[in-house]
Amino acid sequence: MSVIHAGKTSGMSNREKRNLERSRRVATEGMVLLQNNGVLPVSVSSKAIALFGSGARRTVKGGTGSGDVNSRVVYNVEQGLEEAGFTIGSKKWLQLHDENCTKAFYAYADNFAKIVKEQGWAGVMTAMTDPYRDPQEPAITDDDIRNLDNHFAIYVVARTSGEGSDRKKAAGDYELSEIEVTNITFLTEHFDNTIVIINAGGVIDTKPLRNLKGIGAVLLMSQAGAAGGLALADVLTGKVTPSGHLTTTWADSYSDYPNASTFSYMNGDVNDEFYNEGIYVGYRYFDSFGITPAYPFGYGLSYTDFEIKTSDVKLDGEKVVVTVAVKNTGNTYSGRETVQVYVSQPQGKLKKAYQVLAGFKKTSLLSCGQCEELEIRFSLRDIASYDEEKAQYILEAGKYFVRVGNYSRNTKIVCALEIDNTIVTEQLANKLAVDTELSLIEADESKFISYPGEAGQKAAAKVLAVDASLLPVRTVDYGSAPELMTTNKDYTITLKDVLDHKAGLEELVAQLTVEELADITVGSARGGMGQNSTIGAASSACPGAAGDTTSDLIESRGIMNISLADGPAGLRLSKNFVTDKDNNIIEGLGDSSMGNLPQLLGIPVPERPEDAIDYYQYCTALPIATHLAQTWDLEAIKEAGDIAGEEMEEFGVTLWLAPGMNIHRNPLCGRNFEYYSEDPLVAGMCAAADTSGVQSHKGCGTTIKHFALNNQEENRTHSNSHCSERAIREIYLKGFEIAIRESHPKALMTSYNLVNGVHAANNCELLADILRKEWGYEGLVMTDWGTTDPAQQEFKYGSSNAALCIKASNDLTMPGSQRDVDDIVHGVGKDFSMAQLQACALRVLKLVAETYQE
Ligand code: BGC
Repeated sequence: MSVIHAGKTSGMSNREKRNLERSRRVATEGMVLLQNNGVLPVSVSSKAIALFGSGARRTVKGGTGSGDVNSRVVYNVEQGLEEAGFTIGSKKWLQLHDENCTKAFYAYADNFAKIVKEQGWAGVMTAMTDPYRDPQEPAITDDDIRNLDNHFAIYVVARTSGEGSDRKKAAGDYELSEIEVTNITFLTEHFDNTIVIINAGGVIDTKPLRNLKGIGAVLLMSQAGAAGGLALADVLTGKVTPSGHLTTTWADSYSDYPNASTFSYMNGDVNDEFYNEGIYVGYRYFDSFGITPAYPFGYGLSYTDFEIKTSDVKLDGEKVVVTVAVKNTGNTYSGRETVQVYVSQPQGKLKKAYQVLAGFKKTSLLSCGQCEELEIRFSLRDIASYDEEKAQYILEAGKYFVRVGNYSRNTKIVCALEIDNTIVTEQLANKLAVDTELSLIEADESKFISYPGEAGQKAAAKVLAVDASLLPVRTVDYGSAPELMTTNKDYTITLKDVLDHKAGLEELVAQLTVEELADITVGSARGGMGQNSTIGAASSACPGAAGDTTSDLIESRGIMNISLADGPAGLRLSKNFVTDKDNNIIEGLGDSSMGNLPQLLGIPVPERPEDAIDYYQYCTALPIATHLAQTWDLEAIKEAGDIAGEEMEEFGVTLWLAPGMNIHRNPLCGRNFEYYSEDPLVAGMCAAADTSGVQSHKGCGTTIKHFALNNQEENRTHSNSHCSERAIREIYLKGFEIAIRESHPKALMTSYNLVNGVHAANNCELLADILRKEWGYEGLVMTDWGTTDPAQQEFKYGSSNAALCIKASNDLTMPGSQRDVDDIVHGVGKDFSMAQLQACALRVLKLVAETYQE
């Protein structure tokens, strides 16, 4: 019998209603106004309005795959506008497109079923690489727009993507399709203003929009979760003034990105990914190589204007403290502004990017004329650069210009911090050496962007001398190894004894046999992923959750299992499941998050007993991670985490497999929507905020993922990310380090890929040395799902292995298989010591104990 947390009432609960409203509010904060000639905000008129585009009715709430959330309702744009009082005059067109999509979906589903029936589990993987896409929309005709309000038309471009495949640099995905351009052009010719809404999880090519006369406004709605349509209407009507800012550079042309032609499948090689751009990722590249983007990092408009004045910059120990006064200088709309602080470092032995983001803060809602003072603090350590030659983080001698503004290309220099002699902030050891020759690019100052007056600002900047003695060098002890746990208690210790403080957790671990320890360090899906469990849904305790820890030791040791469920756009569970009268979950009944996949895989559907009981687990679909980051509002992100945490508590989930925090390295990565930004500080701070929201709930924790350099989806389980140690540390690991330091997430998930030749899951330098020793991380580390499964076909690089996970202090192999358990049992004394295995099991049991502690 399982412990059931879900409720039996099928109606919408107060918690669902409340969280929908909370997520609506967060969603409004992350929408980014990219262009506006004054047409926005619009008011409700008596005439019916024109609403077109694939996202108008088929609004995308978030991406696909494990990042999808099964919410009860999703408000599309059409419904949102209707709720706000508009009459939609283009329903015939919307209906036609909807019907075409439904037909196309059935055809896709039939084909999917065929592949899965023929190929079994391998077919699921194959089908995942070709997700369903809506067919082309119909052309808009004169008939469709008769008698409509001609002041404005709204056109919604929608895009979706998901794990397992990268986006295509093609019409209908990264680019607008011909019919989309034709339809938008048609609207610009027939309406005074065309408002284009972008309902996408990442960057699209906006060139056709920027070149078209008659576009009144462009608003990045992003993918806003269940309340998306309602939130969009709030912004369009001015109920909420837009205040989102981009967290990724939107290039003028795709070819402007530094790895445009080599990313993932673009060069025909999905085995090896060469990070030749080094530290020049996102705005670090565009600014340093003098390339003008369509919309720069940090950019976003408002309905009102702000004045940003820096009143003070001072040093406080190793911290820089910037005080800024922000005033709403408009006379119609209240609004919020984001202040961003960048630092331009001196060039020296190491080449630096033109600028890096060092801190940010968002104002509260300012009414017209209102002013607010913000204090933004950052540590000098966080802007130090990594010198591979000496394995040191250093602040080189010279002037560090501090810039303040509201986006990366709109800043003013407010002071210069001066360092006399190079300061070593951290002495490390070289780790993760690159396993091949890279052709690293390097910028010099001659390529840097500039703006009129920059030289004058530099010359006039007030200089603050940095006192090196306030930044003592940090060192790391890589030597310590776990010690064997022992106990002198001669009775069988159970988890209850530990919870009752009769024995220590270490004592319980000390009594466990190799087999028991191996059991604990492998998830509960003993049949293996291809047999009786499926990716993203291997939990039997909490249907729809991605997995559980073992329940094999409940009887002998009282060690209960814990459930792990996906995110990051909310909690991913089955909406409904069924039990028998004794509360035994009947697998295969109810509304599984896996649709009819189990049946297609040949898993028989059981009969529904007459006295079966239905349970419900409706969760809130939140805005996607990129959308959350675009709020630049850590409190709002914390609130999103709080929503997920509240629902975890309600449904008995211990670990949320979120947030995802990989860097937006290239806009075609299929999972960028699940990640925050191209900037590690933004990624780290957002993950920390999300974590503090979740972990404010008893026993609940986040699992920051995918550690690390998982920036492509094609061949994700066997691709080798070749990257310099400097870029790994400054760009790809930095966000994780920040999130850990700021919020202590309970867990971390390793990625599928290899990092410089070694699988992340088995990478001792990445996990045992950097994560555990350098950062002092004591939480649980787990693998991504099925990463230890032997490859189904020939790959250049093989798979990881459960025994080598233990060696690397990767505590939990998920979702687990008997082979993993056997590998661990056989690995003791060969691949790793008993003490290392105990240490891994202890970290798993610590979370189990925290879950069941009163
Ligand atoms: C994804 C993870 C996810 C896991 C469990 C994997 O395919 O990469 O992000 O948490 O499945 O569903």
